[in-house]
Amino acid sequence: EKGGYDYFMLKEIAEQPKAVADTLLGRIDGSGSLTLDEVRIPPGVLREIDKVVIVACGTAFHAGMIAKYAIEHWTRLPCEVELASEFRYRDPILDAQTLVIAISQSGETMDTLMALRHAREQGSKVLAICNTNGSTIPRESDAVLYTHAGPEVAVASTKAFLTQLVACYLVALYLGQVRGTKWGDEIRAVIRDLSSIAGAVEQVLGTMEPVRELARSLASKKTVLFLGRHVGYPVALEGALKLKELAYMHAEGFAAGELKHGPIALIEEDLPVVVVVPSPRGRSVLHDKIVSNIQEIRARGARTIVIAEEGDEAVVPYADHLVRIPVTPTLLQPMVATVPLQVFACELATARGNEVDQPRNLAKSVTVE
Ligand code: M6R
Repeated sequence: EKGGYDYFMLKEIAEQPKAVADTLLGRIDGSGSLTLDEVRIPPGVLREIDKVVIVACGTAFHAGMIAKYAIEHWTRLPCEVELASEFRYRDPILDAQTLVIAISQSGETMDTLMALRHAREQGSKVLAICNTNGSTIPRESDAVLYTHAGPEVAVASTKAFLTQLVACYLVALYLGQVRGTKWGDEIRAVIRDLSSIAGAVEQVLGTMEPVRELARSLASKKTVLFLGRHVGYPVALEGALKLKELAYMHAEGFAAGELKHGPIALIEEDLPVVVVVPSPRGRSVLHDKIVSNIQEIRARGARTIVIAEEGDEAVVPYADHLVRIPVTPTLLQPMVATVPLQVFACELATARGNEVDQPRNLAKSVTVE
């Protein structure tokens, strides 16, 4: 069933272009508008929403963090994102004008389920983004948008994550479309960009050999740090999570702007630091700031592993290792920037002799609180 791959994780990483295309399938009509018929929350209700709250755990939570940027940018609705396990116990402010989005691959995660039950008790509408047909979370939600990633067997989530991102972008754009906010050329352009994102993911997958080689060379390291900004920050967190669960290494993700508020003290000779660089186009201020961060950490001896867009020459002098990703719109960059981090963690796990599909102490779905 592994389709010739050594591990399910490798197979699932390779399936990402198809999974992404499948999640988009049938959801964009010929005129470039979205047709999310499954979202059974009436447009009238969606127009009344004044806040979005996303709840999820682990990798799904990272998808939610990225969704926040997209939702706030495209709809101008305030959006909070919270770990389901924290949300439930802090008396969150919820009402009928709150749209709660619960993201879960398995649809059985107890923390997320308890969070959505709590939200519904407060009168909020809950939309599930889920990969498992007929699982508990979608059954208990008001509506569901399925990610059509196909079964994900490896404990470490990969294709589910990318399709969760696609579903989040679709929801954000759909809210924009229904509510009429900022609906226009920009959103239509994003829909076009989304349609070509599967090809971009495929392109990244074709260039991963140097990343595997690099991973093998770092097999005896104890720590790897990950830095990112804006949507690159959740990508950094996801890279660190993958490394923890697969390679059993100490890994931490930071918002690059926080470096000087503490984490820079961790930088020492030869410490591998992965930096996710935002596009030099678009939000170029952020790009320039990250380039100075890379300079700063390199001056302190860090071994910099830089993930940057093709054509971004500013990073070249400061990158000990450079991983190129295709040019994508800022908000969609996580779709391509995450892939090298998945490959990196998977290869490190193999090099360290770990069980890739079944990491120690972990279960595919966490059905206890
Ligand atoms: O099934 P879910 O998406 O609700 O699972 C949430 C987390 O348990 C899950 O993403 C976990 O963090 C993965 N093992 C990450 O690779």
